[in-house]
Amino acid sequence: MKGGPYKLRWRGREVSLILIVLVCATILLWTWDKSPVLTSSLPNKNQLLQLSPEPKRHVRDDISTLKQTEVINNEEELHAEPKRHVRDDISTLKEMEVINNEEELHAEPKRHVRDDISTSNQMEVINKEDEHRAEPKIHVRDDISSSKQTEVIYNEEEHHVDKLPSTDTDTAESFSEFETVAVQKKACNYAKGKWVIDDRRPLYSGSGCKQWLAPMWACRLMQRQDFAFEKLRWQPKDCEMEEFEGSKFLKRMQGKTLAFVGDSLGRQQFQSLMCMITAGKDRPDVLDVGKEYGLVIPRGGKRPNGWAYRFPSTNTTVLYYWSATLCDLEPLNIKDPHTEYAMHLDRPPAFLRDFLHKIDVLVLNTGHHWNRGKLRGNRWVMYVGGAPNTNKKTADMGGAKNFTIHSTVEWVNSQLPKHPHLKVFYRSISPRHFVNGDWNTGGSCDNTTPMSIGKEVLQEESSDHSAASAVRGTGVKLLDITALSQVRDEGHISRFSITATPGVQDCLHWCLPGVPDTWNELLFAQI
Ligand SMILES: *[C@@H]1O[C@H](CO)[C@@H](O)[C@H](O)[C@H]1NC(C)=O
Ligand SMILES: *[C@@H]1O[C@H](CO)[C@@H](O)[C@H](O)[C@H]1NC(C)=O
Repeated sequence: MKGGPYKLRWRGREVSLILIVLVCATILLWTWDKSPVLTSSLPNKNQLLQLSPEPKRHVRDDISTLKQTEVINNEEELHAEPKRHVRDDISTLKEMEVINNEEELHAEPKRHVRDDISTSNQMEVINKEDEHRAEPKIHVRDDISSSKQTEVIYNEEEHHVDKLPSTDTDTAESFSEFETVAVQKKACNYAKGKWVIDDRRPLYSGSGCKQWLAPMWACRLMQRQDFAFEKLRWQPKDCEMEEFEGSKFLKRMQGKTLAFVGDSLGRQQFQSLMCMITAGKDRPDVLDVGKEYGLVIPRGGKRPNGWAYRFPSTNTTVLYYWSATLCDLEPLNIKDPHTEYAMHLDRPPAFLRDFLHKIDVLVLNTGHHWNRGKLRGNRWVMYVGGAPNTNKKTADMGGAKNFTIHSTVEWVNSQLPKHPHLKVFYRSISPRHFVNGDWNTGGSCDNTTPMSIGKEVLQEESSDHSAASAVRGTGVKLLDITALSQVRDEGHISRFSITATPGVQDCLHWCLPGVPDTWNELLFAQI
């Protein structure tokens, strides 16, 4: 009888002891394991995050080659398919008239007639004409890897998609703290991000910035009534972007010169920057120093080829030089007022050769002048190696443009060792948004609601492959604004021009203040 209870008691104690030992061991092990467990789980989450965009690309691998080539063909004209054939019926005479515009500084007396939109629209139209015959472009792109092609398609899709897959955002938000850790290791890609509404925008008044802003781009001076588009700010995804301040800009650019060289979209960026620096206020102290850069009204001309202004407080110069194609133009017969011009695809604009040593920050762009109508209207004849071009691949507009972008970027890059303080940016193509026709066939961009075709850009690569490939491996940086501007179809001048012509819209140039301000914010963040 005694043995029974004793044994039982002993067993009870034994069991308790074993339990206590087990519990202690478990606690010990758990505590010891705690931090390793956590740290090893972090990378997994990060990996998940980083991988999330990839599956999308693979998904698109099944898209037919035909579709790929179509997409690539459209490189700049993402929305443009319907408009293409439009132009064939237009007579040469009409083209010539059309082409006379604000930007055609090298063209004939006809120019002064047309200060406004029609120019840009015309170029656009003519652009299509070229695209219409653009088969060579496809061949030109043969060198691009298929993975890159799929990316192009992926990008294009993104632009048209109403909302991007919400899973991306959700994932990003829930892992935001880990994301920050991962992000610090990578350089910022300012082209990735989203548009947000911000009451601190715009940075200047469209009716106030009279000193720098051309009335033809000041939508506040037009019939437009909705200004929601002025309130948008670009929020890069992987980094904080320093808030633009005129005083900070001038201080950073103390004693320095920033030059925009390019077409009318470059001129928009120039005017935008002048308004941003001054906050749209009159600045009687700012000096016109155009003469120092040869920017004077040519004999018989209407306006100079550019403008240069200096802020005396910091001796900062901001200038713009009109070079629509970023190559050298040389009159073939100086004595003939109707002379043709050699358009040397393999030579940078003379302005760059002459003044590069005086420039500290250079922003280049081209794109919308590369069409046969524009070339004919300006009497520009393509030259390569000092002789009329005979290379078929380069004679094609897309090929010629790509060739020129590459050779100008290459030339500037070759000059960098001589100018160690020079920073050069190539600004990617500014998208146009004509739908259901072109400038002369009722093409429009009537949407006024911001972010209705999308507000976020998550792609890693630029949508402007020509520009991206030109700067690759060089010291020239890409100012990639294509995709972020692509979702801003409501920001164009649209039908509200100063000299509004019924049925004619400008879906190429932007209202200011507006999208080009953001290009300058991205530029400011990188200088
Ligand atoms: C663009 O031009 C460069 C240099 O001439 C060439 O290597 C590249 O293949 C061209 N790319 C396209 C897409 O035409
Ligand atoms: C101001 O800048 C210009 C051009 O950058 C330069 O030629 C000039 O000497 C500068 N003036 C002063 C006072 O530093």
